Amino acid sequence: MENLVEVKNLKKYFRIRKNKILKAVDDVSFSIKKGETLGLVGESGCGKTTCGRTIARLYSATDGIVKFNGEDIHKLNKANLKSFKKDMQMIFQDPYASLNPRMTVGSIILEGLEVHYPELTAKNKNDRAYKLLELVGLNKEHFQRFPHEFSGGQRQRIGIARALAVEPKCIVCDEPISALDVSIQAQIVNLLIKLQKDFGLTYLFIAHDLSMVKHISDRVGVMYLGALMEITSSKKLYSNPLHPYTKALISAIPIPDPDIEENKKVIKLEGEVPSPINPKPWCKFSERCKYVSKKCREIPPKLKEVEKDHFVACHLF
Ligand SMILES: Nc1ncnc2c1ncn2[C@@H]1O[C@H](COP(=O)(O)OP(=O)(O)OP(=O)(O)O)[C@@H](O)[C@H]1O
Ligand SMILES: [Mg+2]
Repeated sequence: MENLVEVKNLKKYFRIRKNKILKAVDDVSFSIKKGETLGLVGESGCGKTTCGRTIARLYSATDGIVKFNGEDIHKLNKANLKSFKKDMQMIFQDPYASLNPRMTVGSIILEGLEVHYPELTAKNKNDRAYKLLELVGLNKEHFQRFPHEFSGGQRQRIGIARALAVEPKCIVCDEPISALDVSIQAQIVNLLIKLQKDFGLTYLFIAHDLSMVKHISDRVGVMYLGALMEITSSKKLYSNPLHPYTKALISAIPIPDPDIEENKKVIKLEGEVPSPINPKPWCKFSERCKYVSKKCREIPPKLKEVEKDHFVACHLF
């Protein structure tokens, strides 16, 4: 299968105060195939959102290349940039903050249609918006209402309808379910899975919750402090995690059987996530890794393929 998104040595640094550089994304490479879901996991602050936003060109990259359909997104001319902005949509972490409270649901959904499909008549646009509302489990009656009149799950549905309105190829879903009640999370995930099947969408699915990521993703990448530590099929990642960080993350997933849960071994991570400001130029996980050796504090490990389609950035391999 062809790659829709290719990320090579992507860096996104933020300059904060004089001489202080926060390396939010620091040399990350991966690709996403057409129609695939790539999950991106890691602790809070490891750079998932920054990575997603840079891929969607909401941020410009500090260095590295992001290709979409074979083209470098930072080198597009005006017309191609507009078409990229249509093809690449985002669903945001916070369904409360991401919808303009002064706009009706209808105008939120129509906004993108007006930019990208100006040739459609008002009636055509409205009909399309009604269809989209139904597609995401809302209805025509919601068209004239305002975001504050909806529950969190319903607002996320509005955000999904907005993203779908312009018929994108790829959606960066930035923790689309973490702000939602557990009972609603599965509904939204199932909706995203259905929409992907119906429209052949490609997803970058960012999340904290490893069990949900497993359910939706074909492959999963694990980030730590701006770096990609491991990336492989979700099946392999969960059955045979290799990086010590991935192992710790996976051991912490609760198992719904109380007997197993009580006796299972959770790998505790010692210490705190170090600061991403002026980080050490070697393995970012070395400070918390119990297998740390001299080499780990000298050379940053490169992501390498240790078995077919299973990449790990660790000197143990
Ligand atoms: N606009 C910004 N300016 C300066 N620093 C930023 C900016 N955005 C993010 N950061 C920093 O970059 C790092 C990565 O942040 P990011 O939001 O990408 O993490 P995340 O993995 O999405 O976390 P979470 O799971 O909490 O959403 C953090 O240290 C954060 O403080
Ligand atoms: Mg985030």
